[in-house]
Amino acid sequence: MKTKRTLLLATCFMGCFFVGHAQHINPRQPKKTMPKTYHVADKETQFVRQLMQKMTLPEKIGQLSQYVGGDLLTGPQSAALSDSLFERGMVGSILNVGGVEKLRALQEKNMRLSRLKIPLLFAFDVIHGFKTIFPTPLAESCSWDLNLMFETAKAAAIEASASGIHWTFAPMVDIARDPRWGRIVEGAGEDTYLGCKIAEARVRGFQWNLGNPNAVMACAKHFVAYGAPQAGRDYAPVDLSLSTLAEVYLPPFKACVDAGVKTFMSAFNSFNGIPATGNHWLLTDLLRKQWHYQGFVVSDWNAVQELKAHGVAEIDEDAALLALKAGVDMNMTDGLYNRCLATAVREKHLSVSDIDTAVERILRAKYALGLFDDPYRFLDVARERREVRSSRLDSLARKAAASSMVLLKNNVAVLPLSKQIRRIALVGPLANNQDEVMGSWNARGNAHDVVTVKEGLRQKLGNEVVIDYIQGCDFTDPSKREFSAAFDAAQQSDVVIAVLGEKALMSGESRSRAMLRLPGQQEALLDTLHKAGKPLVVVLMNGRPLCLQKVDTLADALLEAWFPGTQTGHAVADILFGDVVPAGKLTTSFPLTEGQIPNYYNYKRSGRPGDMPYSSTVRHIDVPNHNLYPFGYGLSYTTFSYGKMQCPEQFSADGTLRVSVDVTNTGRFDGEEIVQLYVADKVASMVRPVKELKGFQKLFIAKGQTRRIDFVLDVHDLGFYDNQMRYVIEPGTFEIMVGSDSETLQKRSVVWLGETLPRQAKDHISR
Ligand code: NOJ
Repeated sequence: MKTKRTLLLATCFMGCFFVGHAQHINPRQPKKTMPKTYHVADKETQFVRQLMQKMTLPEKIGQLSQYVGGDLLTGPQSAALSDSLFERGMVGSILNVGGVEKLRALQEKNMRLSRLKIPLLFAFDVIHGFKTIFPTPLAESCSWDLNLMFETAKAAAIEASASGIHWTFAPMVDIARDPRWGRIVEGAGEDTYLGCKIAEARVRGFQWNLGNPNAVMACAKHFVAYGAPQAGRDYAPVDLSLSTLAEVYLPPFKACVDAGVKTFMSAFNSFNGIPATGNHWLLTDLLRKQWHYQGFVVSDWNAVQELKAHGVAEIDEDAALLALKAGVDMNMTDGLYNRCLATAVREKHLSVSDIDTAVERILRAKYALGLFDDPYRFLDVARERREVRSSRLDSLARKAAASSMVLLKNNVAVLPLSKQIRRIALVGPLANNQDEVMGSWNARGNAHDVVTVKEGLRQKLGNEVVIDYIQGCDFTDPSKREFSAAFDAAQQSDVVIAVLGEKALMSGESRSRAMLRLPGQQEALLDTLHKAGKPLVVVLMNGRPLCLQKVDTLADALLEAWFPGTQTGHAVADILFGDVVPAGKLTTSFPLTEGQIPNYYNYKRSGRPGDMPYSSTVRHIDVPNHNLYPFGYGLSYTTFSYGKMQCPEQFSADGTLRVSVDVTNTGRFDGEEIVQLYVADKVASMVRPVKELKGFQKLFIAKGQTRRIDFVLDVHDLGFYDNQMRYVIEPGTFEIMVGSDSETLQKRSVVWLGETLPRQAKDHISR
């Protein structure tokens, strides 16, 4: 048995245990975000401070207020945007209005009516594309292609900024371990390591050229733990250990800070009893003091007012005060700051300097965007016409869509289909659909621009091939009236392609589901098609993992296409006919059934592991523990074989470990493989996950070729957080695992003897 020598790499634990107000040490954190120190000559500081001297209190508070622009839903509690607000200089920002003409009209009104003519900041939910719609973020995460995600975020920023937008509310970096939660569609899946890398790529993509009118500010949202609501119901409270918070949910936000994200959004939910929007520890002690975050924080939609519904504020005034004091700089949509904060200052509940701090942050953002030089610099109609929607983005969208798809099953190599095929039965509610396939946040996407699967096949195959299209059923209608036509078409075909799934708005905000099988009559339709006895290819489009046991049984081939966006049809056709060899792998586990949820791959050990040979173990009596498709899983048209993992038996003295493996493409196609590295700490002072992703590489391997993949692990990245949020690294044995998914792994035990590097205090969470 190993003797444990615990090195608590945290020296300074101050503050209360419950909130985990501690200093953190992690010698491996490469990018410490230093507080930006401005000296007197700093032009931005000088400008902003001089401007603030001219501002009245209401004008200052106005800068903290964000309104809905008028052509979109305002919701029952949202405050109306009136001319009088402009006249009094009480509008700082407007959200979700798209298009140069409309935005120019608003900016002009603001410049005409307001005394100080401080430019408005325009924000929009540009989540997976603006006009060109890319696959949903969850889909795209399955590409494991960080460069691609950088490129699509950048492309979205170029389109959005050409349409007048300064700021997107993305990326959502909430880790999601529960597929019932509809917003799983908007994130990067269940893993924190991968989530951090993707968060960074997306922030850098949106902000690629910040300060110029072809990039936008990004927003790390929703701070924090929004992805862990009870029972997967959106907006529900979150109760979590601080160790899990620090280890699983915080790191992607810290990765955004390190990548220079300009804004944060506080979450709707409460965390351990305190709503995020009124959580001083979170928004100030952690975000500002420990992480040295320099940008500003916006509340979520009406979330300041919702502090009353949470039951932590009785009246509007208290809610506004609580949010501002906690660290929410900008108030989205409910107008409470404008209504309440001046009185709070007069009654001495708040000081002007509290307001000034928030105002300065927002004015700095406007300055950095160049809006004080030219409030109209993003508002160029000719540029909008030129850049919003271009063929260059279509090819990127097509590539992104195909790279996001995950081949879940391919019995007897049904796929790829031969282009010599003569007759296809194309069935299902998503087979000829332009609206739903764009997914839940389609910004200014236009259904007319979407290439349907039917159209994609037609363009790929020409007119020689017969495509019998029958919708078969929809998502909710109980009718089976088209079943017999679908059966007949299937019987006459060489292959049946069934395009099934969810409606776009069955996932996304407030779209949690308790039952995750295909909705409506789609399974019954599949049963009918199966009876025709022809090769049955199922293409799925959905925003979350579904429970697919039945589908898996009936289908010969199963392609998870997610919601692919405007280039849907071309990307599906590219994969089905082998012009693109699928390489995506799941970033979220697909459960067998809803009762298993949450069933993420990196669960913690138990005293009675489910694999023990007696019944009183951690398991259900009616369903096994494993998922239908595990995290990291995905097939290719080719096959890869892994050689024996090479690595020493010990970490070297500096704490590094080189792990190598040869991967050979043994199949008939050139292809890409995503090689994954997992680690487990065998014995620790706290219960540790059975495994955790700690590295991956996506690489092209030509058929017949072998490539060597090297990883360098650093033991200082293999520590964990205790419940006081102190980072700990413990010497001993680690299990190193390499393979093609989180279940198909070869293992090797490696020891770290524990003489560590000289350590310095570090004051943040990191991976
Ligand atoms: C509410 C959502 O939670 C948030 O993600 C979004 O950015 C805002 N609405 C603005 O539309």
